[in-house]
Amino acid sequence: MAGLIPQRFIDDLLNRTDIVEVVGARVQLKKTGKNYSACCPFHQEKTPSFTVSPDKQFYYCFGCGAGGNALGFVMDHDHLEFPEAVEELAKRAGLEVPREDGRPGQKPRQPVDSPLYPLLSAAADFYRHALKSHPARQAAVDYLKGRGLSGVIARDFGLGFAPPGWDNLMKHMGGDSLQEKALIDAGLLIENAEGRRYDRFRDRVMFPIRDSRGRVIAFGGRVLGDDKPKYLNSPETPVFHKGQELYGLYEARKNNRDLDEIMVVEGYMDVIALAQQGLRNAVATLGTATSEEHIKRLFRLVPNILFCFDGDQAGRKAAWRALEACLPSLQDGRRARFLFLPEGEDPDSLVRKEGPDAFRARISQQAQPLADYFFRHLMEEADPATLEGKAHLATLAAPLLDQLPGANLRALMRQRLGEITGLGNEALGRLANAPTNDVPPSDFAPSHHDYSPSHPPYPGERDDWPGGQGRKQQGKKQWQDGDNRKGDKPWQRREPPSVRAPRSGAGVEPPTLSALRTLLHHPQLAQKVEDAGHFAAEDDTYTQLLVALLESLQKHPQQNSLQLIARWHGTEQGRLLRGLAEKEWLIRQDNLEQQFFDTITNLADRQRERSLEGLLRKARHSELSAEEKLRLRALLSRSEIPAFPGPAGT
Ligand code: UTP
Ligand code: MN
Repeated sequence: MAGLIPQRFIDDLLNRTDIVEVVGARVQLKKTGKNYSACCPFHQEKTPSFTVSPDKQFYYCFGCGAGGNALGFVMDHDHLEFPEAVEELAKRAGLEVPREDGRPGQKPRQPVDSPLYPLLSAAADFYRHALKSHPARQAAVDYLKGRGLSGVIARDFGLGFAPPGWDNLMKHMGGDSLQEKALIDAGLLIENAEGRRYDRFRDRVMFPIRDSRGRVIAFGGRVLGDDKPKYLNSPETPVFHKGQELYGLYEARKNNRDLDEIMVVEGYMDVIALAQQGLRNAVATLGTATSEEHIKRLFRLVPNILFCFDGDQAGRKAAWRALEACLPSLQDGRRARFLFLPEGEDPDSLVRKEGPDAFRARISQQAQPLADYFFRHLMEEADPATLEGKAHLATLAAPLLDQLPGANLRALMRQRLGEITGLGNEALGRLANAPTNDVPPSDFAPSHHDYSPSHPPYPGERDDWPGGQGRKQQGKKQWQDGDNRKGDKPWQRREPPSVRAPRSGAGVEPPTLSALRTLLHHPQLAQKVEDAGHFAAEDDTYTQLLVALLESLQKHPQQNSLQLIARWHGTEQGRLLRGLAEKEWLIRQDNLEQQFFDTITNLADRQRERSLEGLLRKARHSELSAEEKLRLRALLSRSEIPAFPGPAGT
């Protein structure tokens, strides 16, 4: 069975590949000094700002910020997934791609020739056939007709019918216990606690979910009436990873040779109803939030994405999440737009009500560019009519803008933020958590094509909602605390800011509080601090939170300020962090880092003292272990503390 591609092979493959050849085979390159240049294939331009370096085996576009190695280039240019791009380069180099089985207990990612595919395909045939000829089919046919669908669309999407009864599919597939076991693995049968096996999908309209190659990998099944759950989906299986798949993507690509824009909607029926009305470019996430993974996939296929979510609270929340997921992929030349539907409508209901032309007109007139939606949404969160609101707005916006890889879009949005808040570029740059680079990098910038997973879900967020119950209750805005009654937000109070914002270093606030704020705004500092796990339980709130922040950042170094705030969202600490985030720009910048490290040094010293006392106390009563002795010696000579399991001094 094919499994993971070993990293050694990828390294070796890159060593044997010359990026100039790879790019040169696809783009007309011109030698300019040591490097090669061309007009960028990833965005429209008249003068070449796309550069390929043979020394560094890297490409980079000074115009749009696209950059990476040969593999990244092939993925983006040829619209390939990672393994396909490896295959492509390997073919060039005359190598065969080896696969290794995952480590014991670890499932290989996307087995290529899984025995589950033929089973899933046979099940899809069975369901499709049942929709045509099962005695109980009429109810399903009527249901689909009632939703305005034609036979052609039902065929294109492979719609089917799981007849009522516990074992229709099981009987049809026949076979022995081994076969049944495979059907369980494919998510088609369920085995209960007593070992009884039965069909997962019963009396439902069936939507086969296909991967990008058109293979059936899972199903969604909808009840014909109002029973619960409305939709039943296949569970995660070796061939189905819900969070990565997009329903309708295969069909959209099949029906459009030159797909330019993909519309992302919420539901199966939205995709199908739009297709029925001639809008054949819609895809849906499968009951999960739009992820950075989804977005990367889509932008590899098309330069434009249109989000079209339901006109309810949950839909609006989903839109903001989608925006956040887009930011890291927005190179210049790529575009994301948002269409908000009237309250109570979804794309299915609306396109059927008003027809495709009106729907298209609505898109062209009402879809908001990402930048517009971005500022409109944040201005609802922080009222820019007040200075405090402006400060808050800048604090929220700057780190998000910092995620934009496209230098032009980033600069333009910063400029707009500057216009709204009256803050200069320098102040805004300081708010962003990483050093800003508005000027084109003098050397090659790091690749934006990293395959790292997106940030962990916000606390309280649910990715899925079996039974379809939870989601409608989630429509809570991310930055709205339960206790923020109107006019009650700290940045809306009328006192002059100076009263609330003591200058740091003026002796007004404890140094741990300043350190906390510095860390919040410069999360990368956490990497320069010794393992926060060494700091034993501290009893004051600021110190506790400081240590918790350090630990969190050392575990997940990619987090930015907003993600840190989000992590503690809804708690006392979260409110404290938000308060600190708002104040920052009023505070003198000099010496903050020095103060931060002084505070950490104090903490570490205190920790040493405590450990020392604890060990000495223990030594008076009992024999110390060899490890403890070693540690004591180190502490007495004030050198580095060797790693020690568990907090000492207790
Ligand atoms: P919606 O509740 O918006 O349903 O869920 P819908 O698409 O408008 O359904 P219809 O029009 O009543 O048929 C949107 C998507 O959320 C997932 C499905 O993927 C669905 O298409 N969902 C919803 C579930 O997985 N389970 C559910 O019980 C409900
Ligand atoms: Mn609907």
